[in-house]
Amino acid sequence: MTRHAEAQQVLGDPRISTDPATPGHPMAAFHERPLTEEERRVQARFHVGQFIDMDPPEHDVYRRMLIPEFTVRRVREMRPGIQEVTGLLIDDMLKQGSPADLVEAFGLAVPSLVICRLLGVPYADHDFFQSRTREMISSSPAADGSPDAVAEIWEYLDGLIAETERRPGDNLVGRLVTARRETGELSHDELVGMTFLLLVAGHETTANMIPLGVHTLLRDPAQLAALRADPEGWPDAVEELLRYHSIVDWIVFDRVATEDMEIGGQTVRAGEGMFVLGASANRDPRVFERPDELDLRRGARNHVAFGYGVHQCLGQNLARAELEIAYRTLFERIPTLRIVGEDDELPFKYDGVVFGLGALPVAW
Ligand code: HEM
Repeated sequence: MTRHAEAQQVLGDPRISTDPATPGHPMAAFHERPLTEEERRVQARFHVGQFIDMDPPEHDVYRRMLIPEFTVRRVREMRPGIQEVTGLLIDDMLKQGSPADLVEAFGLAVPSLVICRLLGVPYADHDFFQSRTREMISSSPAADGSPDAVAEIWEYLDGLIAETERRPGDNLVGRLVTARRETGELSHDELVGMTFLLLVAGHETTANMIPLGVHTLLRDPAQLAALRADPEGWPDAVEELLRYHSIVDWIVFDRVATEDMEIGGQTVRAGEGMFVLGASANRDPRVFERPDELDLRRGARNHVAFGYGVHQCLGQNLARAELEIAYRTLFERIPTLRIVGEDDELPFKYDGVVFGLGALPVAW
């Protein structure tokens, strides 16, 4: 599906499933052979609580428990913490000195430390947590990541939740333990799965969007100067960067019809798989004027960079806050920031999962 209207139709239609176990789901085609019993067992273990792969009503049970954690108000309360983490990382970058790899020093680190705070990861474990999530993400041709890193993070979250069950703190996991574990609504493993999903969904996306946005802004000095002169423009700029890059790629938007239906004048039969091309939908000229142009004042709110329908990004308010604070603070603190080298030398990633940059050499 390439047009905006059909993208929204597919993502919003309750007769279309995202569950990889639904017959005909396109993910099955990615496996060259049927999974072995052992592979199935491992997959099932890491599937618990992953509501991004579930259909309603099962999906809604988990999602509803997390909605209060990502409201505009709650995210406003997180902003000072995000600002602090961002400032500390820029202090480190300046201390290490120019040049630097912005992906390593900043892009990966901001969302990692924000998620550490959200989940209540103790400070002493930050390095372990960051290095394992980096390993998981950088070796992820299909978002499955390195099996070792996945297992290590799973074990880590398992321990973190066990500890929180003993002593619930005032953070997302603590509140879920108090409100849902103690009443028996959530099992220990489901809670591990939900936090794992937050980590994966919230890290790789933001970690790619930060360096991409910095790159785009540095390559457009006139629009960057206008933003610097009018910082009120940052929220619109973030929205346009999200539309322009549409980093969540087709593999994530994998769906299957559960009934015969018509989409964009085409008959789709039950059991037929579909992929939504978010990047194409977000450049549909029927919806966005001059769609290939970056226009930071466009104020495009109806893009599908955060998806659409029941699975629309749960963390979108947090993502917007992270991006705005990261870009604004970086350009305020390092006004002479520049890219080292030419664009055709940069390692852009086109793996079909999340678009991004493998590295972004910068100097100041
Ligand atoms: C630039 C950053 C981000 C982008 C572009 C993004 C994009 C998306 C998209 C497109 C989906 C829908 C996938 C589908 O329909 O299959 C999604 C779902 C989700 N996102 Fe994000 N995301 C971002 C950041 C975050 C953050 C920071 C968090 C939380 C810490 C988060 C948590 C989630 C969760 C839990 C889901 C699953 C929702 C559900 O199935 O109900 N995301 N995201």
